[in-house]
Amino acid sequence: MSDQTEKLSETDICIGSYENFHFYRTLDGSPTLAFGQNGEGEKMHHMKGAFSETLHVYGRVLDELKEREWERRILSIGLGIGYNEILVASQFDELTLLVSYEKDRELREYFLNWVDGKTNLVPNRFVKIYEEILTLFSIQFKKEKKKIFWNLLKFRNEGSWKVFHELNESFECNEMSAILFDPYCSKTNMDLWSEDFLEKFLKNVPGSNCIFGTYASTGSLKKVLKNSQFEWIKRKGFKGKRECTFAVKNTAPDKRWFPDLER
Ligand SMILES: C[S@@+](CC[C@H](N)C(=O)[O-])C[C@H]1O[C@@H](n2cnc3c(N)ncnc32)[C@H](O)[C@@H]1O
Repeated sequence: MSDQTEKLSETDICIGSYENFHFYRTLDGSPTLAFGQNGEGEKMHHMKGAFSETLHVYGRVLDELKEREWERRILSIGLGIGYNEILVASQFDELTLLVSYEKDRELREYFLNWVDGKTNLVPNRFVKIYEEILTLFSIQFKKEKKKIFWNLLKFRNEGSWKVFHELNESFECNEMSAILFDPYCSKTNMDLWSEDFLEKFLKNVPGSNCIFGTYASTGSLKKVLKNSQFEWIKRKGFKGKRECTFAVKNTAPDKRWFPDLER
């Protein structure tokens, strides 16, 4: 099993705080966030690299989506400080649907206000962090920061990006073709990792073709994915984690093999 987000250690250096949000520098230079009065809550990313971990786990899912040319209906669970949303906007200029879930009201509002250009409503610390993350993706994908940012704004204005509050059993989306599952580990977030929830989730949310990725791997998840027509593909986890989860469901004809197929 590999389902642990690291706890803070004494050597982790806080690079700034705003109220109960504490930012830390990870080893590849990118920032991560921990909640709690003293930042004692779970960190959102691996301390060996928030940005590199995002590329390793979730970048791979979007690469596969591109490769397979499936309709872009992407679900991101746990918006946090927006790595996965900025990744999507770096990879795709057009998409059918992006759905993000974030249960923390401030994280939702800060990110959306930043995208809407209402930076007066966003704490400076957050603005700097979002800009930093944007810069990292811009360098990685050799795409102008402005273009990535405008993609996010465009998705929002044209209604193809929807942001919801708490993911629970009233699933507001279906027919998704890529799932970036990042809602903390099973110890912190037992509800979303329970076999019962995962069964309902995988019955209702993915389309006939779907790629599922998460940084962790648990026996229950593996079992439920297999029972839900996903092929579980072995992948090494990020930096020393034994494995991460990468699974593909392909139960409808694939456009690559039937190029004339109407979608
Ligand atoms: C590991 S962090 C996500 C990091 C994010 N993907 C990023 O790269 O910045 C997990 C996030 O999931 C959110 N979360 C946890 N349970 C949730 C739920 N049931 N519904 C929506 N968001 C949830 C937490 O508030 C937290 O911001």
